[in-house]
Amino acid sequence: MSLLITNIAELMTQDGEHRVLKNAAVVVEGERIAWIGQADDAPAADEVYDAEGRALLPGWVDSHTHLVFAGDRTAEFEARMAGESYSAGGIGVTMNATRAASDEELLELARARRAEALRGGTTYLEAKTGYGLSTEHEEALARVTAQVADEVTFLGAHLVPKGAEPEAYVDEVVGPMLTAVAPHARWADVFCERGAFDEVQSRRVLEACAAAGLGLRVHGNQLGPGAGVRLAVELGAASVDHVNHLEDADIAALADSWAAYDGGRGPRGTVATCLPACDLSTREPLAPGRRLLDAGIQVAIASNLNPGTSYTSAMNYCVTTAVLQMGLSVHEAVRAATFGGALALHREVGEDVDGRRAVGSIAVGHRADLHLLNAPSATHLAYRPGMPLTHAVWQAGVQVV
Ligand code: NIG
Repeated sequence: MSLLITNIAELMTQDGEHRVLKNAAVVVEGERIAWIGQADDAPAADEVYDAEGRALLPGWVDSHTHLVFAGDRTAEFEARMAGESYSAGGIGVTMNATRAASDEELLELARARRAEALRGGTTYLEAKTGYGLSTEHEEALARVTAQVADEVTFLGAHLVPKGAEPEAYVDEVVGPMLTAVAPHARWADVFCERGAFDEVQSRRVLEACAAAGLGLRVHGNQLGPGAGVRLAVELGAASVDHVNHLEDADIAALADSWAAYDGGRGPRGTVATCLPACDLSTREPLAPGRRLLDAGIQVAIASNLNPGTSYTSAMNYCVTTAVLQMGLSVHEAVRAATFGGALALHREVGEDVDGRRAVGSIAVGHRADLHLLNAPSATHLAYRPGMPLTHAVWQAGVQVV
């Protein structure tokens, strides 16, 4: 079955050539993109969808979420808006609520959130464990997460649970917990931050997870300067996320990691993932997205959906914020939320790792994940902030919105 989407006023490919086509069309065959070009040159297809002069983008790739949890933290948010600052300790509140929920309840909650994200244009999504914080509960969370997210990240090193002795807890994370969770996960992450895990503990977790075959990600430099970024680069992590408090040496290390990338001809470095919705909700300084891009660093934008610091999966909003408040152009912000997310998950090129198609850009052979805006150009995401601009969404070639 083939589908021609035509009469597209603006087609932002976010492919290797960074093309933005006017009066364009796309042909989808099954789950893949089969053709893109000028509408006048489009081949015939079994079905035709008239975009009526709207803008088409790749579906959002949300490369950082904590999708699976129970309970909420409204009171903590209210206290923060009244002047309290965020601390890692709140994770324990969600741990208690999550442990108290059954697997079925967690799955139902996560499915509802996943559907909400899809309605907002998110066609590919990573999700972390990290609210179980014991071998039994982390394993259960990983199983639930694998049923609802495209990529699973093991985040047993999110917080030392109350009452546990830190070194004994790290022993558990790198021992039985890792053994139990690894079969369900592709990635491992650590919250390298004051109040969570220090540099030595973080290194131990990351090295053990890498030895178990997991790819690495790091929560770093969120609440203050620290070792997160440099550790991530040194250990070859796919991304370091938050990056609010960066020193010159951090920027230099990240930039160095991309020195040989050459548009995909050389090895990937460590993506700097900015989480603007989280920055606003925690009243942290916004991650320096402009500075990172200017230094030649690949940037992703993600939602950080979680009940503590960013209770939203709205990638439209994250992109809007990146343009209005972080100094990115619309094209750069959309790229960071599509191609950048895919790059942070090593899914920007096709058929790699386990035979999956590439996501995050509109190119022949890539997965047909498409986001049609109710606007003639992507500029409207920033020009009309907060408006419901998602008009239609295709995921792997199937129209889901
Ligand atoms: O990415 N920073 C660590 N983890 C989450 C917050 C989790 C929570 O407070 O529940 C984050 O912001």
